[in-house]
Amino acid sequence: MKNVPSAVLLVLAAILISHFSDGSSAAKSDPNPASWPHQFHSLLFVNYTGSLSLIDLWYDWTNGRNFNIIQDQLGKLLYDLEWNNGTVFSYTLDDDKEECSSSLIDVGILRPNWLDGATYLGQQFVDGFQCNVWQKVDFIWYYEDAVTKRPVHWVFYTGRSIHVMTFEVGAVLEDAKWQAPVYCFENKKVKDHPASDNNILDIGSNVTAPPLCTEIFFIYPTFIYSGFIQPWS
Ligand SMILES: *[C@@H]1O[C@H](CO)[C@@H](O)[C@H](O)[C@H]1NC(C)=O
Ligand SMILES: *[C@@H]1O[C@H](CO)[C@@H](O)[C@H](O)[C@H]1NC(C)=O
Ligand SMILES: *[C@@H]1O[C@H](CO)[C@@H](O)[C@H](O)[C@H]1NC(C)=O
Repeated sequence: MKNVPSAVLLVLAAILISHFSDGSSAAKSDPNPASWPHQFHSLLFVNYTGSLSLIDLWYDWTNGRNFNIIQDQLGKLLYDLEWNNGTVFSYTLDDDKEECSSSLIDVGILRPNWLDGATYLGQQFVDGFQCNVWQKVDFIWYYEDAVTKRPVHWVFYTGRSIHVMTFEVGAVLEDAKWQAPVYCFENKKVKDHPASDNNILDIGSNVTAPPLCTEIFFIYPTFIYSGFIQPWS
């Protein structure tokens, strides 16, 4: 080292310093929300301005399907089954009153990376967990455990508030349970899907602004802004 001119050492030092400062500034950049696992099961506690429900959510991207089994407090048990081809079945399994409506929506189920492009808002302590918080297109606020990266909570701009009670990565509901009842196929009349209104807008897409919706339908965490109902052929 004795023979190395000090100018060279200075240049080396400058390179090293700039290298490490680059590294540290990159490390300080905003975190991104974790992609959803391709298959998981989650129990969700939902509060929509005081109306409470429990949702048994089976997200199954691998098989192109998503199931929300919704128990309203002291009310109906509703099955909301979505296929990635755009078909949604909403039904009860009540022997006395067979109800089913099916609809076609232009977007399929949420993509695992549907949170890409969300804006980082910093950290907050929510539901007892230190969370990273993101907002996506003034539409959803998403809270993820800063340590485990599990979703903890999300809130739609309608005020529908979801608390994640369990999060079982890799859990898959058996195929037989995904079969909509026969009366879904007998009566082919299309009713409006509750999570539907006028225009399609997939929250997972690269939209930058929310649509102008007067009435917002966010009954279930389908995350579809609103849906365009097409005749069931
Ligand atoms: C549900 O949300 C409302 C506000 O919209 C709040 O006043 C109420 O305490 C919440 N209920 C529960 C059980 O969290
Ligand atoms: C979509 O897939 C489901 C399940 O396989 C099927 O019942 C439904 O008819 C399909 N819808 C269309 C429009 O192909
Ligand atoms: C959205 O994505 C499409 C294709 O992926 C692209 O053509 C379009 O420019 C994008 N729009 C915005 C606002 O980024």
